[in-house]
Amino acid sequence: MMLRPTVTVLILLWLIGGHWVSNAQAKADREKLLSEPGVYGTFAVFALNEEWVKQDPATRIVRLASLKGVVEQHREHVSIDLYLLRGLFDQADLLFRIHAAELRETQEFLLDLKSSQFGKYFKTVGIMHGLTKKPNYVPGFPDQMKADLETISEPGQKPYAIVIPIRKSAEWWGLDQEKRAAMMQEHTAATLPYLKTVKRKLYYSSGLDDLDFIAYFETSRLEDFHSLVLSLEKVQEFRYVRRFGHPIILGTMKSLDEVVELLAQ
Ligand code: HEM
Repeated sequence: MMLRPTVTVLILLWLIGGHWVSNAQAKADREKLLSEPGVYGTFAVFALNEEWVKQDPATRIVRLASLKGVVEQHREHVSIDLYLLRGLFDQADLLFRIHAAELRETQEFLLDLKSSQFGKYFKTVGIMHGLTKKPNYVPGFPDQMKADLETISEPGQKPYAIVIPIRKSAEWWGLDQEKRAAMMQEHTAATLPYLKTVKRKLYYSSGLDDLDFIAYFETSRLEDFHSLVLSLEKVQEFRYVRRFGHPIILGTMKSLDEVVELLAQ
């Protein structure tokens, strides 16, 4: 039976409308996952194995389509950000930053990714987990500093992402809250000149990983980031840092389509 044109148009509008609504919902979830405390953040770092370079472009495109399929399949439960490490980081090619309300949802995504047509070319270089939390020390900071921390970063793209795993000493955790707060205030004062050009997000990892924190940054000005770290290395709190990086992961943020295009070549 032939559908009348008006019916076809209505079905099309319904389909487009439904798609738009589900996209809007997926986006709403993403906003929540990226901004709220109590969200799990996972950093999964992969290298493509030597079999990948042997594949011809047509095969690569087919394999890469499975990456898109897996991301699409899980996007209602997890929020996925992709970074190209190849060329900037010697140990790996890709970084996935995954946010989820439940870590098992991240696990399901990673399992499907690994068993996909694309994932079979992956070598896992490392996986780190952390949890977003409400700030511990900021509520006790002076009002001016709290207001300064609200500074909005400069608009425009911040193409570089830097991930730094951090572990502090037992001595730090043994200090009373007041002493730690004073040192974190000094830490924060050193960072204020960089608020406009460096965006940050902190994940708490104690008990979830062999780490205490995963510090994540986005910037377009790597020079500023370099100066920021030099400033922080001078504050007292830095003396309690036992692991800084090892590795420091540096890459560029990419859309899924950009990654597909780059890796297809
Ligand atoms: C624009 C740059 C930065 C700003 C504005 C900033 C600000 C802050 C603030 C306000 C806190 C306290 C959060 C709380 O109340 O619990 C904090 C904690 C922390 N920051 Fe930074 N920071 C910056 C850069 C960095 C850098 C470059 C690193 C290291 C690579 C770093 C590592 C940490 C760590 C590990 C903590 C948690 C410390 C703890 O709770 O013991 N931050 N930061």
